[in-house]
Amino acid sequence: MDVLLKKGNPTKQKTACLVVGVNEGKKMSPAVAAIDAELDKALRKAMRRDAFSGKVGQTFAIDPATGLKAERVLFVGLGAEKKTTGEVLRRAVGTALKNAGDVRATDMMLVFESFELRHASDEERARVLTEGLLLGGYRFDRYLTSEESKKEKTPKVVTFQYATIKQEDAIRDGVAQAQAICRGVVLARDLVNEPGNVKSPTFLAEQAAAAGKETGFKCTILDQQQLEQENMGAMLGVAQGSEREPCLIVMEYNGGKKGEAPVALVGKGVVFDSGGISIKPSEGMEEMKMDMGGAAAVIGTLTAAALLKLPCNLVGVVPAVENMPSGSAIRPGDILTSASGKTIEVLNTDAEGRLILADALNYVSRYKPETVIDLATLTGACIIALGHEATAVLGNDDKLASALIGAGERAGERAWQLPLWDEYSELIKSDVADVKNIGGRPAGTITAAAFLQKFAEEYSWAHLDIAGTAWADSAKPCYPKGGTGVGVRLLIEYLKNASK
Ligand code: BES
Ligand code: MN
Ligand code: ZN
Repeated sequence: MDVLLKKGNPTKQKTACLVVGVNEGKKMSPAVAAIDAELDKALRKAMRRDAFSGKVGQTFAIDPATGLKAERVLFVGLGAEKKTTGEVLRRAVGTALKNAGDVRATDMMLVFESFELRHASDEERARVLTEGLLLGGYRFDRYLTSEESKKEKTPKVVTFQYATIKQEDAIRDGVAQAQAICRGVVLARDLVNEPGNVKSPTFLAEQAAAAGKETGFKCTILDQQQLEQENMGAMLGVAQGSEREPCLIVMEYNGGKKGEAPVALVGKGVVFDSGGISIKPSEGMEEMKMDMGGAAAVIGTLTAAALLKLPCNLVGVVPAVENMPSGSAIRPGDILTSASGKTIEVLNTDAEGRLILADALNYVSRYKPETVIDLATLTGACIIALGHEATAVLGNDDKLASALIGAGERAGERAWQLPLWDEYSELIKSDVADVKNIGGRPAGTITAAAFLQKFAEEYSWAHLDIAGTAWADSAKPCYPKGGTGVGVRLLIEYLKNASK
């Protein structure tokens, strides 16, 4: 999608769809009133008869828009001005995009002035609006072959219509930032949506390397033999049931001062999780191609950080494996020795994410990181606890957890903390090894984190369980069904503030 800028009078613009934001219960701004005047007060009348009030999610279209040069005027609700957030604006333009697509509008124009956001600069406003456009217009259609399905369903060109020359640079900067961030989000979505037959650990590594080459970060791949040299017994244990070789993807972005301790990002990269010998029920198993959502978020974040030239040092580590049942697979009862030296009793081969993360968390110690943040589609229990509305945050540093929750709120990716009290560790004590890989049914998300904590003792660490947020079962204004790319926007927002 091309995003263009145009200064001028909103009533004079030629476009297939002129999009105007309307707040609920507020006097019309002069820009909106001017448009409404040309429409014979159609908006005012609609509001009077309660056909449209400006509530979030509401739209009101006038088609054709006689009096204006636009073929359609689309009013979108932004809710009460006091409650309007960046996420409200993102969703509003996502909704507008879909509406314009439904009537086959090939271009769309946004009246910038009508999208108000309290305490936000023009740059930030332009950024969130562009995010809404780029994320709302996303589709994964590379495997659709019919002409009909290949047709673009949403406008290809969107123009910001603004009033003063002063706004121009700010809007341009905001748009550029959003384009960089969304490159990362879109890459993450694409990776999650790729089917398991295409998405081997090697494929993930190639994609990360290609992104690094294009945007400016280093990418090194450790193969099976090197993993053996690193004594990554936990990760190798998970991988041994699959025909496909595992690998560890190591990405480095250096935008900060030389020698400055990096932030390390670790992403669970299970390209397909069948459960292994503790095999999952066949119903819904296809969704487990998304079990590398953490890996996708890390690769996407490095991509966006490099494009934004963020002033920080980053290390991204992705343990990439496939979890399959076979004659060579690990069995319940097996004991693995992790790279840290700690032994793990595997009581359920479907609790594989924590095993590969154990070795990856140990691996990042060598970078003496300032902070370590891991992202993983780790537990079904997380969906029971928080549904699909929030990512779970746990860790050994409450300040870090709060900073991540705050960044998520601003970025439109909600996160919520769960406790990680010492008592939970009791549940993963093993009789025959240092730790066991399941803790029973109670507090499944927490016992998984308690397991990870044992491998993250040397640094400040947070764990994001994205099991409920990495995949959408149904479409929303800012994403279709499928991979959401969750994590990228949250992490970029966090890194922007952390490197200030
Ligand atoms: N990848 C799954 C968790 C998951 C479930 C992610 C649903 C997204 C949607 C993970 O590897 C898993 O299978 N976890 C088990 C752990 C259990 C065996 C302790 C689970 O949640 O059932
Ligand atoms: Mn599993
Ligand atoms: Zn898994």
